[in-house]
Amino acid sequence: MEDTKRLLPALLTGLFSFPYRFPPPLNKLPTFAFGSSMDARQEYKDVVRDLIQRRRADVAAGMGASNSGGILDSFFELQKQYQMDAEEGSFSFDDDFIIDNVITILFAGKDTTSVTLTRMLQLLGTAEDGKEIMDQLIDELSKAATVDDGEREDGTAAGLPGAGLFTSFPLLNAVVLEANRLHPSVGAVFRTTRKDISYNGYLIPEGETISWNLNQGSLAETLYPEPRKFCPFRFLHGGEKKDTDSAASPGAGARSTGQPIPPMWGFGKHMCPGRELAKLEMVLFMKTFLPKFDFEVVEGQSFSGSLPANGPKDKLRVILKAKAPAAVA
Ligand code: HEM
Repeated sequence: MEDTKRLLPALLTGLFSFPYRFPPPLNKLPTFAFGSSMDARQEYKDVVRDLIQRRRADVAAGMGASNSGGILDSFFELQKQYQMDAEEGSFSFDDDFIIDNVITILFAGKDTTSVTLTRMLQLLGTAEDGKEIMDQLIDELSKAATVDDGEREDGTAAGLPGAGLFTSFPLLNAVVLEANRLHPSVGAVFRTTRKDISYNGYLIPEGETISWNLNQGSLAETLYPEPRKFCPFRFLHGGEKKDTDSAASPGAGARSTGQPIPPMWGFGKHMCPGRELAKLEMVLFMKTFLPKFDFEVVEGQSFSGSLPANGPKDKLRVILKAKAPAAVA
């Protein structure tokens, strides 16, 4: 954990830097941090390699079932299957491949979810109707089951979220979408063209890297009237707040009919594979936090974003107050 706290931020700064290894002290400047980011990555690889070795030793010593569901065990299982099925000359599912994937997951899954939650609290805490929306959220979250605790046909463990967790939480889903529309925690997605593409009079040649800028697309006035306004109801009832909105039936019957759902999870086969985990984390946090605490966003702070995940530059400062016990269900 300590290593992750120290190395992950250093690694992330390299994402938005000039890809050249500048000598010290220039490599300490964020724009030139590519070299120190690569060093952090190398050190982090060794940390994960050590974890892999320790986990293998534990499993071999009979400590911990090999099918415990932990991420390393899942990779070991996939590695075994892959090695059995692998054809001559195919890519090697070796430990370096596992390490790269573990680092990708840690890096893709940490700030994205926490920044989304932070932005949700910021927006709920500052919107005129924020308190009303929070009360509706509490009601919605208290009524629907968070986890699938029934028997599974395929025999996998109950208690894990079913796919599409948010279908039970339409208002929470709308708040998450709206927070990400206003402050996307992933600002762009990238693709490489597989053939020449003609777009809007421009030729984009095969093999070019293109990016979809989620920051800009989500603020287009033609798509979202009053684009800077926090209004989760855009994604309920065809975009309007109805007098009948209540926790019992927020947005019943319809998602947005007019305002497109922002592609916060990306597209196609690279669509975020961690999205159900992120949704579960957000449901659990909101379900635990909202009924127990009132909070006030401290006035006068800046909400402008910072790299890499667009969280408030100076964090979010709030004054927390525990709700009176009678108010806590
Ligand atoms: C609110 C939280 C999150 C948001 C908004 C988010 C968003 C995204 C987006 C937009 C992409 C790019 C998709 C594309 O290229 O089409 C992505 C990719 C990815 N995400 Fe997430 N993500 C979140 C949480 C997580 C979590 C919790 C994990 C894992 C624990 C995760 C793992 C990944 C990985 C591994 C990729 C790369 C997929 C690939 O390139 O094939 N994400 N995410």
